[in-house]
Amino acid sequence: MTFSTIQTSLVNHIFTIIINRPDKLNALNQAVLNELNEAMEFVYKDEKIKGVIITGAGEKAFVAGADIAEFVSVKDDEGATLSKKGQDIFFKIENCPKPVIAAVNGFALGGGCELAMACHFRLASSKAKFGQPEVNLGLIPGYGGTQRLTMLIGKGKAMEMMMTGNMIDANEAKTLGLVNYVETPENLIPKTKEILNVILTKSPVAISKIIAAVNFYFDKKGFDEEAKLFGEVFSTDDKKEGTAAFLEKRKPVFK
Ligand code: COA
Repeated sequence: MTFSTIQTSLVNHIFTIIINRPDKLNALNQAVLNELNEAMEFVYKDEKIKGVIITGAGEKAFVAGADIAEFVSVKDDEGATLSKKGQDIFFKIENCPKPVIAAVNGFALGGGCELAMACHFRLASSKAKFGQPEVNLGLIPGYGGTQRLTMLIGKGKAMEMMMTGNMIDANEAKTLGLVNYVETPENLIPKTKEILNVILTKSPVAISKIIAAVNFYFDKKGFDEEAKLFGEVFSTDDKKEGTAAFLEKRKPVFK
């Protein structure tokens, strides 16, 4: 498989997916989403793959969100479709019958935090930062963040993070239950592999049933509502101002 926006490798049954646009802090444009989707389809099919690690290229970012520059070319009435597409790819990760772990090596913002949360669990480097800053763009999380953040850290803190757009560091993310371990940057991938290797000694069929059973615990209706509401904010003047302000490197002024 050859990809242009992600890198993949298969070593000792562990398939590593690296989101690879470091000059744009690994922002998720449509090309990345399509390649991530293709890579996950391969994971489902290839019997040599027993577990997956998702991480980001470079020193700075896991994924700094959906690609804001690309939002400009999406039509006002296409917001809900955009949200659904991202949600569906992330469901493919969440429902993967093989363990998928996020190794969060830097900024995990917006769609990046949502990507990490779609994985079965997360490890963070001490340099990682998490946030759902869509509100700064006049938007809301649209790739499952309103649902999964609430599930993972509880309603009050999730509301605060989404309403303020503020970031939290790796240690706070661990205290809140968003990540399981905080490691030095050098130890992040080795520790992730160590845990995955323990899981790989267990019964694959039992692991797949644990994933299915745990995922069944959560109600999926909220994701449809999120996509609908994302569609509604996507056509507002605030979204136009918020995205323009980011691209022009200035503070937004909302009405
Ligand atoms: N979409 C598109 N481009 C992005 C991006 C995103 N989500 N996040 C970062 N980039 C780009 C920047 O535009 C910049 O590109 P340029 O060099 O061509 O100008 C490059 O990545 C580096 O980012 P920069 O903002 O210069 O780095 P920084 O260290 O000053 O700030 C962040 C880092 C993460 C705080 C800042 O990039 C940011 O706020 N990103 C957006 C986060 C966000 O709102 N995500 C949710 C999107 S829905």
